[in-house]
Amino acid sequence: MKEIIQQLEAKRELARLGGGQKRIAAQHSKGKLTARERIELLLDAGTFEEWDMFVEHRCHDFGMADQTVPGDGVVTGYGMINGRLVFVFSQDFTVLGGSLSEAHAEKICKIMDQALKVGAPVIGLNDSGGARIQEGVASLGGYAEIFQRNVTASGVIPQISLIMGPSAGGAVYSPALTDFIFMVKDSSYMFVTGPEVVKTVTHEDVTAEELGGAITHSTISGVCDLAFDNDVDAIMMLRRFFNYLPLSNREKPPMINGAQRTEEPDYSLDTLVPSNPNQPYDMKELIGKIVDDGEFFELQPDYAKNILIGFARMEGRSIGIVANQPLVLAGCLDIKASIKAARFVRFCDAFNIPVVTLVDVPGFMPGTSQEYGGIIKHGAKLLYAYADCTVPKVTLITRKAYGGAYDVMASKHLRGDVNFAWPSAEIAVMGPKGAVEIIFREEKSDPAKITAREAEYKAKFANPFVAGRRGYIDDVILPHETRKRISRSLAMLKDKVLTNPPRKHGNIPL
Ligand code: COA
Repeated sequence: MKEIIQQLEAKRELARLGGGQKRIAAQHSKGKLTARERIELLLDAGTFEEWDMFVEHRCHDFGMADQTVPGDGVVTGYGMINGRLVFVFSQDFTVLGGSLSEAHAEKICKIMDQALKVGAPVIGLNDSGGARIQEGVASLGGYAEIFQRNVTASGVIPQISLIMGPSAGGAVYSPALTDFIFMVKDSSYMFVTGPEVVKTVTHEDVTAEELGGAITHSTISGVCDLAFDNDVDAIMMLRRFFNYLPLSNREKPPMINGAQRTEEPDYSLDTLVPSNPNQPYDMKELIGKIVDDGEFFELQPDYAKNILIGFARMEGRSIGIVANQPLVLAGCLDIKASIKAARFVRFCDAFNIPVVTLVDVPGFMPGTSQEYGGIIKHGAKLLYAYADCTVPKVTLITRKAYGGAYDVMASKHLRGDVNFAWPSAEIAVMGPKGAVEIIFREEKSDPAKITAREAEYKAKFANPFVAGRRGYIDDVILPHETRKRISRSLAMLKDKVLTNPPRKHGNIPL
């Protein structure tokens, strides 16, 4: 017995050492933490329950028989984040570059299966040189087993990927299937084909960082939701982020104890919207003034900045916020913004998180690049997401809600539960200038007449009352009472039940 215990301890020690001190030092010298250090930071102290520490690969080719390390390059198990259950895998770059063998994949699949059964999120800490080359198709099969589980778990348990090293080739597709991707600047990258292949095929000279670094994916491609300076920042923010999410689609979003409960008016909001309709203002200011403690956990802040998405709380309960940002492209909806917001709405809907939509939208972005790029199809994604969504939807129009974009942005017609407008709202097919130039084309050469027509149009449509008369707007509210009115609406909607007709699944325009 004593001998077995000694063997056990020795094996554990070996597993904890991963690829050995030299490789751990190399990992640190790149500014990266090890797989185990990352788990330690992520989970509440002392809560990690490790599984499969003794798993080894089964490959005998290319001299692999004597290259076994217990654990096989990935640390897996479960633990707690702020007292809530989470499953985690953390790839160990010190063991064969964190490469994914069949056994390594089986370990990941095991915790994914268990997470799905018990209804708890999976967090993947990715740091891997990809498929283990010596194993060939066995490791490719391992990836596909993970992909299948990512898809089966989609919309059932939240899945979050933290990219903390390489993620190339097939390895990118598991994170891509998860709900959120966070990356670390300078030490992580994601691409389907690396710089060498790119050079051969397209003759482009590009570094790994330029091709798939955190900055690239958080500003150009939109693949990544947030980019952080280092491992510690990324993990600490992930812990905060986790608090907004329910553990599964069986739960309501978590309630934070001791939450801010105030219906205090904020009079500064009465002057937020400038009197000149072409002058922008910062929608983030409104968000900051209506949510608990002014805390807005924004996602994709540097991508498609004309729309804002992120989580916040009202009276302690998580909400998703989607808001046009008049500061960028006047808050127009374009391809990127539509996709960004659509996916977020779908996440909120899948996980019972109410959606609050703040609208100031002059329409869809015109132009050949948008039309050729398929704005029709991509804009329809957002429309579809809102229309399909059954969680509580509260909408506030602060200023412009023009054209098709009015319909799209969680309007009454798309089963908006509570639709408010500020007195400054203008709900119309288009702005007065554009409208008059079309309807009164023959008077175009007479500026006095045109000005009068504009005033006439504005008086008729550029206000919230036409929509109000038809019940499309439930109430015109004063800006300073916005927090009170929205949070009361959310409280009223707390136990809302709405279901879509039975179907295998809808066919969202992809
Ligand atoms: N399979 C097997 N071993 C791998 C591996 C893989 N996919 N990726 C890395 N390794 C091993 C390396 O052989 C090296 O082993 P060694 O220290 O015994 O020599 C160790 O992991 C560390 O890799 P190294 O290349 O020294 O690290 P790096 O930081 O300089 O480079 C990569 C990292 C990921 C860019 C590089 O390892 C690489 O290109 N790997 C192959 C990527 C790939 O094509 N994967 C298959 C497609 S999915």
